[in-house]
This record gives sequence, structure tokens and C-alpha cells, in this order.
Amino acid sequence: MSDSRSTFPILGTAMWGWTVEKKICFDLLDTFYGRGFREVDAATNYPINRQPEDFRLSEKILQEWIAANGVKDLKIIMKVGSINNMRGPENNLSKSFLLMVLDEYQYLFSKNLSTLMIHWDNRQQVDEIRSSLEALKIAREAGLKVGLSGIKYPEVYATLNREFQFSFCIQIKHNLLHSDYARYAAFHKNADFLSYGINAGGLKLDPEAYHELSSLKARGGNIGEEHPIVEALNGALQKANQQLHIPRLSTFNHCGLIYAACHPDIQGILIGTSKVEQLKDTLSFMELIRQHDYSSFYQNLQQIAQLHATG
Ligand SMILES: NC(=O)c1ccc[n+]([C@@H]2O[C@H](COP(=O)([O-])OP(=O)(O)OC[C@H]3O[C@@H](n4cnc5c(N)ncnc54)[C@H](OP(=O)(O)O)[C@@H]3O)[C@@H](O)[C@H]2O)c1
Repeated sequence: MSDSRSTFPILGTAMWGWTVEKKICFDLLDTFYGRGFREVDAATNYPINRQPEDFRLSEKILQEWIAANGVKDLKIIMKVGSINNMRGPENNLSKSFLLMVLDEYQYLFSKNLSTLMIHWDNRQQVDEIRSSLEALKIAREAGLKVGLSGIKYPEVYATLNREFQFSFCIQIKHNLLHSDYARYAAFHKNADFLSYGINAGGLKLDPEAYHELSSLKARGGNIGEEHPIVEALNGALQKANQQLHIPRLSTFNHCGLIYAACHPDIQGILIGTSKVEQLKDTLSFMELIRQHDYSSFYQNLQQIAQLHATG
């Protein structure tokens, strides 16, 4: 079980080379690394902007920063299986393909590679999934952690895992509008859960905070229309800010961080900051969560989430 006082940040890279230009990615890495954090999340299909010429651009930016700084102690999670960045379900999770990408990422990231994770699996066929797990077994024997993300039938993996006995690291979308946690019931309390999408892809409480490159807009969201949850959250924040024993809360990001960090089974939070100021705000706020008791505000958030959940 996790404790909100120990939830750790993992730097996300999904928008690198898309809404986040290379110079900013370098600044984000400088700031994150400079503050002592080492966990970075990557995937073969980032950025998923449907521009074939950008396929694998995000990981290339990460490789350039590593080479420029001679870094050897990052802990990179690499999500694999994608064969393009078109946002579709096409992928290759065969044992031979996974072993080929394992080999390639060991070469490209060397000691900085910490976890190999299966990315997006809609399959149900036991034999096919077993052969993907055989590839993960080889990754584990090579000293890597193994993980899962975007798995349609987690229960098939859980049954097969009686054979493999992996300690999986699992990425789940978990925010005030949607949570994948229930779908992974077969892994509750026996995997390390990491939450992503805590801002629901870039939702803001203040409509003025949207900008030209807003992440929500780039992903096809409607920034011109206020989401119904915004009014409920603004009301809850106003009340919470009258309590003097907790530091002031102001953004959807603060709510999302508390909602993930106070979850009893979430160990890490994937942070998708697009600016250095956002990263600093997020890291400082995670420190406040470690120091203060936000449990009653968390209960308010749970009630609001129940009313507004879409999945
Ligand atoms: N496993 C998977 O399938 C999967 C799926 C999605 C993501 N991920 C990973 O999780 C990471 C995060 O996911 P996400 O981008 O969907 O996360 P998110 O937190 O829902 O959205 C990120 C956006 O929220 C806003 N934001 C973040 N921090 C903020 C702050 N301190 N103040 C104000 N606004 C803030 C920014 O929007 P603006 O840029 O508009 O300001 C930012 O681009 C990704 O980079 C990726 O590594 C994994």
C-alpha cells in the first residue's frame, strides 16, 4: 500500500517534439535531474501526433540530453510494441519483436534503461500473451523491471503471471474524470501502480490559463467550453483554502496530484509538465503533499469524481 508521503514523480515525455520544443525538454530535464529525481517515462510512439516524420522524436530528444550531459543514472521506463505514432491500435507484441526492441533500447540507453513495459494490448489470446511475457522474462533476467500499460484484459496477464511471477509496474490513467484502477482488479495490492493523465490531458480551472499550445487543444479537447467539474472544484477549493492548516490550492493540477497521491495503491505519478514553471510548481506541491494532511480534501475530491466520472 502506498503512502501519499512517499509518492514519487516520473517525468513524462508524451508531448516532447509536439507541443514541447527541444529546448524546453532540455530545461525540464535539467530542472528535474537537478532536484535529484531520476525516473523518466518514454514510449516508442511519442509524440503520438500522427506525423510520421516525428516517429520516435521524443526518445531522440532524451538520448541527446543524456549524451550532452554524460548521464548514467536515469531510470527510464520504455513502453514498447508500437510500430508508428498514428494513435491507432497497430502494434507488434510478438516475442521476436519485443526482443529486438529490448536489444535496441539497451544499446541506446545503456545503464539509464530501468523498465521495459508492454504498451497497449487489446489481445485476449493466452498463447500470444505468453510469448510476449517470455520476452519480458529475458528483460528481467537482464536486470530490468517489467511493466504493463493500456492492457484491455489484465486478468489474462494476471492468470499467466502465476507462471512468471513478475512484480509488475503498471501505468493507469487515474484522474477526477476517469480511472482505470478498477479494470486492473486482478493486480490490486500486488503491482506498483503509476498514474498518468492526472490533469485529464490539460484541463484548467481558469479559462484564461489556456494558451496557444494548450495540451488539451492539441489532443482534440474543447478548450472553449467549461467542463461541468470545474464549477464543483472551484467551490471545493474555495472552502479548502479557508482552512489554515493546509497550503493554498489553486489549480486542476493540484487537485489531480492530491487525487493520485492520496490513493492508497498508487506509488508514482507521471507528470506531463510543458513548462519549467509548471514542473517547479508540481514538484513543490508534491513536497507539500508529503508534509501536510490533505485527507479531508481528498474525500471531497472522491465525491466530486463520483459525480463527474465518465469511465
Ligand atoms: N501509459 C500510457 O498509455 C500513457 C498515456 C498518456 C500519458 N502517459 C505518460 O504520462 C505523462 C503525463 O500524461 P499527460 O500528459 O496525459 O498528463 P496530464 O497531467 O493529464 O496533462 C499534462 C498537461 O497538464 C497541464 N499541466 C501539467 N502540470 C501543470 C501545472 N503544474 N500547472 C498547470 N498545468 C499543468 C499542462 O497543460 P498545458 O501544456 O496545456 O499547459 C500539461 O501539458 C506523459 O507525458 C506520458 O509520459 C502514459
